[in-house]
Amino acid sequence: MSSLVKDAQRAAQRVGLTSDKIVINGGKPLRGRIEVRGAKNLATKAMVAALLAETPSILKDVPNISDVGVVTGMLEAYGVEVSSVGTGQLRLDPKNVLKAHFAQIDALAGSSRIPILFCGPLLHRLGEALIPDLGGCRIGDRPIDFHMDALRAFGAVIDKSYEGIRLTAPNGLRGADIELPYPSVGATEQVLLTATLAHGTTELRNAAIEPEIMDLIAILQKMGAIITVEPNRVIFIEGVDTLHGYEHRALFDRNEAASWASAALATEGDIFVGGAKQIELMTFLNIFRKAGGAFDIHEDGIRFYHPGGPLKPVVVETDVHPGFMTDWQQPLIVALTKAHGRSVVHETVYENRFGFTDALIEMGADIVVHKDGLESVSRRVPRRPLEQAAVITGPTKLHGADIEIPDLRGGFSHLIAALTAEGQSTVSNVGIISRGYEHFIDKLALLGADFIYEG
Ligand code: EPZ
Repeated sequence: MSSLVKDAQRAAQRVGLTSDKIVINGGKPLRGRIEVRGAKNLATKAMVAALLAETPSILKDVPNISDVGVVTGMLEAYGVEVSSVGTGQLRLDPKNVLKAHFAQIDALAGSSRIPILFCGPLLHRLGEALIPDLGGCRIGDRPIDFHMDALRAFGAVIDKSYEGIRLTAPNGLRGADIELPYPSVGATEQVLLTATLAHGTTELRNAAIEPEIMDLIAILQKMGAIITVEPNRVIFIEGVDTLHGYEHRALFDRNEAASWASAALATEGDIFVGGAKQIELMTFLNIFRKAGGAFDIHEDGIRFYHPGGPLKPVVVETDVHPGFMTDWQQPLIVALTKAHGRSVVHETVYENRFGFTDALIEMGADIVVHKDGLESVSRRVPRRPLEQAAVITGPTKLHGADIEIPDLRGGFSHLIAALTAEGQSTVSNVGIISRGYEHFIDKLALLGADFIYEG
């Protein structure tokens, strides 16, 4: 069995899905209302932040996704009591933090990338940290050099062994002066989670400023941290002696919201995404509108729909916030196969994030991936050496196929492709989708999709 299939099965088990296949009869517009809850890329990090406190924290709107299960497993291995205190509400009590056994940590190896963020909090609480080999989507090399360099700057000593990554801090952790080579989301979070309890002040330059990072800063401020966000991606963190627990409602999942929006457009449907908010989606909304999609902003969510008429081609470059997120391009590309003309998507964040297009091409899409990117006269984002470009020419009709999901966002785009296709598709490895999309099978049913899922 391939490691991808194993990952998919483990992820499915964590959220109680028993079958790894869904059979979809395409051609039916998705219509109705679904709710999005807390963001995968915030809730999981907020859970790690609870480890820094002396008292319990309460996190609200936690989605039932498998990455939350992995982080729960990591926290429990280190003695944090994680209990459910209502629908989507977790109580995280760190009073009995203790060293984990290698077997407990190893059982979580390869499941997610979040465990890397335990380094700073564990060094503060226990003086050492053992981190399993990381998992996450196979969308590029995904090195952790920025994380390790930052931790060394704080005074951590790092050993890599067969067990994973072992860190110690013989002289404690001190505030540091750090400039990231790229505004990495994870490395910025690493610095925030390490600097809050370090002795002295940390200056972080070229920081990521995604809304999920701002929400993490809000949580740390509730806990007693002193963090100042300056213009031009500079963040100052003044170390404090102790932090206490927080109570916080997680920021909504804007990646999930954008995914359902693209599903509405591609299937010529009409989806109200409850819980979605405009500010965090502004860049997405502009491209959605340029492509011919329509939306209405409401107090409790956003209605995304196909207003009739032909869809239009767009040129998009993925970028760090406030640019167009790399996690939004995959579902959008399915809608772009229906647009009249040639669209170009430049992927500038990861070096291998168009693998999912192979299945779309098999289903009849006209997509050419340029592995070394494309020169373009009107670039908004400076070209990075790792980038790729996809040229999508439409409109094309997709037909049903047997598809194996390769990664989270690519996987969701495969579901959408199958929903728009003529005929039947069998999509396997759907467990991977449960890493980031809560109750997606139930939501498909709510939206009137025609599918068979036995599990
Ligand atoms: C986060 O990944 C998200 N994951 C990703 O979402 C998201 O695509 C990405 O940020 C960009 O927004 C989580 O939050 C768990 P990065 P992260 O560090 O933090 C390079 C999803 O589908 N880099 O900002 O791992 C890296 O290779 C996932 O929800 C280094 O070179 O992303 C990439 O090219 C997928 N060295 C770029 O920086 C490092 O040490 C951006 O990565 C770290 C990163």
